[in-house]
Amino acid sequence: MKVSIFGSGYVGLITGIGLAKKGHKVILVDVDKKKVQKINKGIMPIYEEGVSKKDLKGIKATINPQEAVINTDISFICVGTPSMPNGMMNLNYVKKSAEAIAKALVVKNDYHVIAVKSTVMPGTTKNIVLPILKKHADNFGLCMNPEFLREGKALTDFLKPDRIVIGCLDKKAGSILKKLYSKFKAPIVITDLTSAEMVKVASNSFLATKISFINEIANICEKFGIDVEEVVKGVKLDHRISPHFLQAGAGFGGSCFPKDVKGLIDVAKKKKYIPNLLSTVMSVNEKQALRVLNFTGPVKGRKILVLGTAFKAGTDDIRESASIRLIHELIKKKAKTTVYDPQAMQNAKKVFGNKIKYAKSMKSGLKNQDLIIIMTEWPEFKKIKDLTNKPIILGRRILKPDGINIKAIGYT
Ligand code: UDX
Repeated sequence: MKVSIFGSGYVGLITGIGLAKKGHKVILVDVDKKKVQKINKGIMPIYEEGVSKKDLKGIKATINPQEAVINTDISFICVGTPSMPNGMMNLNYVKKSAEAIAKALVVKNDYHVIAVKSTVMPGTTKNIVLPILKKHADNFGLCMNPEFLREGKALTDFLKPDRIVIGCLDKKAGSILKKLYSKFKAPIVITDLTSAEMVKVASNSFLATKISFINEIANICEKFGIDVEEVVKGVKLDHRISPHFLQAGAGFGGSCFPKDVKGLIDVAKKKKYIPNLLSTVMSVNEKQALRVLNFTGPVKGRKILVLGTAFKAGTDDIRESASIRLIHELIKKKAKTTVYDPQAMQNAKKVFGNKIKYAKSMKSGLKNQDLIIIMTEWPEFKKIKDLTNKPIILGRRILKPDGINIKAIGYT
């Protein structure tokens, strides 16, 4: 099938690459000329483990929405929906894409399916996207088809999903999208637009809840002088719980969990429901990164090496990273901070400038430090045990703590 994808960021690119791998013809649309040129030259505009320029083969990019809509049967909206300071999602890019598609449809005339893939709060596709489309066009179908892509594993997640959720306004649109995914082995859930949106934010809110839950148990374990990982060994074997997302530590970050939970809290409150559980999930998480400081003693004037600034291993993304929260606090407390991350140094420099030092490698960063704090689970950090005898504090459990020289959240 012929597919145009509005937004060639993380979700758009991976969706495009994944659909092209399944034999569909893909056109990416972006307002950023430089990005479009890069894609057309076969250069990957983002870093994603396991994805390279050869995956762009056969994919075209354009800045012209009309050309893309006229030459395709389906348009996906895959633009960003960043959080605003009040927790609300910024829908400007979604609205602009919908408007551009709708205007192009006036010229096209043939039936066309629009599918929203960007994460949006329940009600958005029906109450915001649909009226924009209707203003200009009438011969279209509308779907909401959420993405469940983890950074670092995005293409595998796209090609081998646990499920495909298709919320649709009309049956015809739903069956066209179902046909697009006919070569995928996953179960397909067909539902309405608003339920599909809620599946996405409920899934991410549940996973975030699991993490804050196990972090709270970890914090209580410390009080009993036991190790949360010993407890998890027994808890995770209950099939109703599952072993995933039970790693206690410095808390969750990234572009999705914090944004989606805050977004759901915001819309629930607007509907006059106070979501106490979700608010607590966020407040446990906000404090969690700083809990490593319970093991450091006073940090003022001490030389501290923070290993890892990315919100997880396998990415250069530092958005909402637990490490970034910690470094802000170390600066505030006047510690002499040095950081090292194998991928995310440039992004960290943009945030902290000359307020901290940057090491060229883990080994060089270790010189003359009083203390080391590990905040991202990069595998190379495991070697640290052989490189130093200085105290190590684990915000991510990549080593076995001993409570003496290696201390960890959830272990005493
Ligand atoms: C997430 C979702 O998993 C994905 O389905 C979604 O649609 C986008 O958001 P991502 O943000 O890429 O993906 O990262 P993920 O691997 O889910 O980790 C999120 C955060 O939770 C990371 O900071 C990670 O370190 C933390 N985490 C994860 C824990 O603290 N403990 C765990 O057990 C698992």
